[in-house]
Amino acid sequence: MIFVETQNFASLPSLPNPYPVHTLTLTPPARERKPTKIVIGESLIDDLASALKTESFDRVVLLYDKGIEAIAQRIQKSLPSCISIPVPPGDASKSLQEVERITALMLDAGCTRNTLLICSGGGMLTDLGGFVAGVFMRGIACVLVPTSLLAVCDAAIGGKTAVNAGGRKNMIGTLSHPESVMIDLELLKKLPQAQFSEGLVEVIKIAAMVDAPFFSWLEENIGEVMKRTSTELSECVSRAIEAKVRIVEQDEHDRDTRLLLNFGHTIGHAVEALSRYKLSHGAAVSIGMIAEMKTLQSKDLKRVSDLLQAIAMPLSILDSMSADALWAVMLSDKKNENGAVRCAVPISIGEGAVKTLTGEQFLTLFP
Ligand code: GLY
Repeated sequence: MIFVETQNFASLPSLPNPYPVHTLTLTPPARERKPTKIVIGESLIDDLASALKTESFDRVVLLYDKGIEAIAQRIQKSLPSCISIPVPPGDASKSLQEVERITALMLDAGCTRNTLLICSGGGMLTDLGGFVAGVFMRGIACVLVPTSLLAVCDAAIGGKTAVNAGGRKNMIGTLSHPESVMIDLELLKKLPQAQFSEGLVEVIKIAAMVDAPFFSWLEENIGEVMKRTSTELSECVSRAIEAKVRIVEQDEHDRDTRLLLNFGHTIGHAVEALSRYKLSHGAAVSIGMIAEMKTLQSKDLKRVSDLLQAIAMPLSILDSMSADALWAVMLSDKKNENGAVRCAVPISIGEGAVKTLTGEQFLTLFP
């Protein structure tokens, strides 16, 4: 609806413009939102064409991380006429240059607004691919096929997309929800153990913040989850995703509830950056979770550290990292507010809260 208000501003008689000032209001129609379909099963990637009804699109593009070539070949077999675009592995690919390269390739291949972009890989690829889908011709249909546990339970759920800019991570992005997320548990069974554990850190994080029964279930079943027994793996993944879906449905825009997902990430991001990204994201967040619980004196520290230990994740800040250097990185983050930082921690298991962490409190970690 467009309202036109015409006002004659008597106080502005000397303006050279002889016309009255016009104020217009444009109220965009509420964005049409289709729900994202999240499918969890085994061997899904071998029959994507019928699951995704790809015949209704004029082009289908498979954007994938070059590091998952064997998985990409299986997807290509199920989608014989798709256009494949491999992306070099590593966070350096999350860049505007890469977005431009992919856009040019898609244009050369005749892609239109009625193209389907299928993105397969870990969190780097789903962040990048989701961003391309969100901005190509102002937005095209997107399906995510995450291949790491971190992407399955966190990055691919909830519509956040991102590329890095200005030497900082995730500074440019959109909220663009995919049409569907296809989660093939068989792929998770084949992940190297360390990479699987890194994803479990995000699962433990979400359970600790918002789902006490799920956290207790993890404590009882972590052995089977680590062995990736079908039943336990499927239950673990489904419960973690259900918890994240509930959060995103309440607060898509990170205003309150969604901020709880930052548990471990305020200190974790600084640890990861100071390690020059040699520490994996999961390992850095594991260290961050323990450090944040200690500084903000939250209860149930032992329960969280026992679970992180059971999945062989590190718990302590590395000796090589100084308090000053870590604090400086934390202050440069998006979560900085007047010399303190925002930090999400579980007050007790299942009861997450966003707190303020001051430099003084942070220094208590360094005796
Ligand atoms: N990865 C955090 C979020 O989706 O909000």
